[in-house]
Amino acid sequence: MAPMTSMTAKELLRWHIDAGVDETITDAPVDRFGLVAAKAVQALPQQPKQAVAGGLSDAAPALAPAPASLPDSLPKTSISSSVPGAGEGRANGDVTTAVHLAQGAETVEDLRRALESFEGCALKKTATNLVFIDGNPEARVMLIGEGPGAEEDRQGLPFVGPSGKLLDKMMASVGLDRTSVLISNTVFWRPPGNRTPTPQETAVCMPFVERLIELVDPKILIALGGPAAKLLLAQTAGVGRLRGKWFPYSTPGLSCPIEATALFHPAYLLRSPAQKRDTWKDWMAIKRKLEAL
Ligand code: URA
Repeated sequence: MAPMTSMTAKELLRWHIDAGVDETITDAPVDRFGLVAAKAVQALPQQPKQAVAGGLSDAAPALAPAPASLPDSLPKTSISSSVPGAGEGRANGDVTTAVHLAQGAETVEDLRRALESFEGCALKKTATNLVFIDGNPEARVMLIGEGPGAEEDRQGLPFVGPSGKLLDKMMASVGLDRTSVLISNTVFWRPPGNRTPTPQETAVCMPFVERLIELVDPKILIALGGPAAKLLLAQTAGVGRLRGKWFPYSTPGLSCPIEATALFHPAYLLRSPAQKRDTWKDWMAIKRKLEAL
């Protein structure tokens, strides 16, 4: 029996690691399923106890998260999780909620509050902190990475881990720092185990990213790494082909298109230092572009 127990523990640990749970964030375990069930019970309308057969069950059915007040013109029904194909309907509803919240933000701080209240991104459940922005919201240069890593999750700030240190050095070489740029990511919570964000996770965060770009309205937009480049530049080519080129980035909320480009991700440069030379040339081109604008 003993070897069986230790095998089970080992298998459980392996399962957690494969699922991306690669660090402990609190000293004691937290039963998050229990918390959700308790919240659902609290959200139930107060009824006389005798009206509920058998009283309130500990295992209350999980309720669909209440959508933030959607305008009447938006399809509230798509949020329902009680219909067949609910996964897709729910996903669409989360994106609709994200669009509504993001568009309602008139300032960068409004947008932070909107993100804090948003429950439509699954990454929020496993993350320690929201990782929103760092730098100057009035900067002329804006950088968007892929998603927060472990150190970013701990501090609640983007690019503060090893790749952030390299990013700071590269920016310094062209006279930029966190007072002259604004930094964010395509998703605002850490994907477990630093995996690539899923299309669904990216889709629900994109309305906030787009609104952030509109509110900052930088002169230059830089996508860091392939996933951010594909999303922001609406291109299918890899970052190796996109770097060194300029693309117009526009949304209905921008008065004129922004000059956008891509760079190798600093984490890639840490693994492949030979590519630093090209990236240094790219930064020089960015500096020249900035001077010309
Ligand atoms: N990598 C990213 O893409 N973003 C961060 O914030 C940190 C590492």
